[in-house]
Amino acid sequence: MTSAMPPSTKSKVLIVDDDHYTRTLLDRLIGKSADVRLAADGAEARKLFTAEDFNLVLMDQRLPADNGIELLREFRARRPRLVSILMTGYADVREAVAAVREGVFDYLNKPFEDLETLEAVIGKALELDRAYREIDDLRARLGDGTPAVIGRSPAMEQMLGQVRQVAGLDTTVLLEGESGTGKDVVAKLIHAWSPRAAKPFMEVNCGALPESLLESLLFGYEKGAFTGASVASAGYFEKANGGNLFLDEIADMSPKLQSNLLRVLQDHQCMRIGSTQPRQADFRLICATNRALAGEVKAGRFREDLFYRINVVAVRLPPLRERAGDVILLATHFLEHFNAKFGKSCGPLTPAAVRMLEAAQWPGNVRELQHCIERAVALHPGGPIDTMHLCPGDVPPAVGAAQSETTSGPAAYEEARALFERDYLKCILDAAGGNVSEAARLSGIPRQNLYVRMKRWGVVTDQ
Ligand SMILES: Nc1ncnc2c1ncn2[C@@H]1O[C@H](COP(=O)(O)OP(=O)(O)OP(=O)(O)O)[C@@H](O)[C@H]1O
Ligand SMILES: [Mg+2]
Repeated sequence: MTSAMPPSTKSKVLIVDDDHYTRTLLDRLIGKSADVRLAADGAEARKLFTAEDFNLVLMDQRLPADNGIELLREFRARRPRLVSILMTGYADVREAVAAVREGVFDYLNKPFEDLETLEAVIGKALELDRAYREIDDLRARLGDGTPAVIGRSPAMEQMLGQVRQVAGLDTTVLLEGESGTGKDVVAKLIHAWSPRAAKPFMEVNCGALPESLLESLLFGYEKGAFTGASVASAGYFEKANGGNLFLDEIADMSPKLQSNLLRVLQDHQCMRIGSTQPRQADFRLICATNRALAGEVKAGRFREDLFYRINVVAVRLPPLRERAGDVILLATHFLEHFNAKFGKSCGPLTPAAVRMLEAAQWPGNVRELQHCIERAVALHPGGPIDTMHLCPGDVPPAVGAAQSETTSGPAAYEEARALFERDYLKCILDAAGGNVSEAARLSGIPRQNLYVRMKRWGVVTDQ
């Protein structure tokens, strides 16, 4: 995927602070890797913000004639997805936490004590901006109905490169990958990128249908061929008619249908059930499986000759845990998608949430991430998404520990966490119509545990 702002382009960062020392320190720290502009007050900041497109704004909370939080609000009104960091004194932490709830990415306490943390927070903020821009770019290019296949990790780039090459050829493609890795979307992408794109895309899940139904669906039938065949019907082999045929879960096809399919692939012809008249079958075959087909052949469950016919070009879809960098991109995409779908404005992801999502193992791959974000948006009233709103599978214990440490001071983090927890509990109880057992089911938190937490926050009063 190409980005609106290629990775080689330096990020643009606006630093607004009336303190000369802070401006110089930040300029030295990030000036090597980013294109930095400095403003000493609100008026200068407004002028620069109007003239240029910034990837990140670092804003002092107290400016000579302005309030940094209000200035960021003004900037966000002009560019809703502006990624910003507030720089604040310890005395102003309460306001800074509120600003984060409003959509500021994070806040940093001044004076800066730990430059590594500072760099890490800035790095994460820039990553979020990149994700927003890539999604805008993608959306702009997807007006033509091409499915959104998001990913810029090396594993995805390599896979998409392979897909781009084979899409234009009339060769059979076998998509292999764990469940939820995107085999369906990639099959549709191959269709969209192929010269057959204007023709039909026929899709069937071989594992979801009984043998006889799958056979009649693929081959079609003549009137009276079996009980209930009151009119003749063309099968998918015919209906594909110059387009692409996608056989999902091909490993689940019965031995009888495997041999029938082999014949169709050899002859480029098929016969409807109840007919002896061969018909032209002009389709390009795309197959998918979440089991290694070679292993199925070895185990005697899949015909070897059919395997060789299908396995002309095999494309492996990498599991999400091998796609460093894609998790946040996908999470941001799903956040936008479900915000639009549910009419909400949840987000951005807090730095702790970003760390949690990045560290999770995602055994259910992209589908699991999608469900995780869908659930967070559905249950959250709005505002930043924090760790407690998320429920990724298999988060390693080390990350659990990392969540309790914060980039901006433990006290502030605990305070923010408490506010989020209270809101979350209220919201989930609302969603469950006031029923704690239902709320427990929705949230995945054991009922007793949920009840204790709700009681602690005064969300429920008695059992
Ligand atoms: N790269 C991606 N970009 C955007 N959405 C994706 C991507 N990969 C997967 N998805 C989304 O994740 C969900 C699961 O993807 P998909 O159904 O294609 O997986 P699959 O590999 O076919 O899974 P299964 O083996 O269970 O059939 C879908 O909603 C799909 O739109
Ligand atoms: Mg699938």
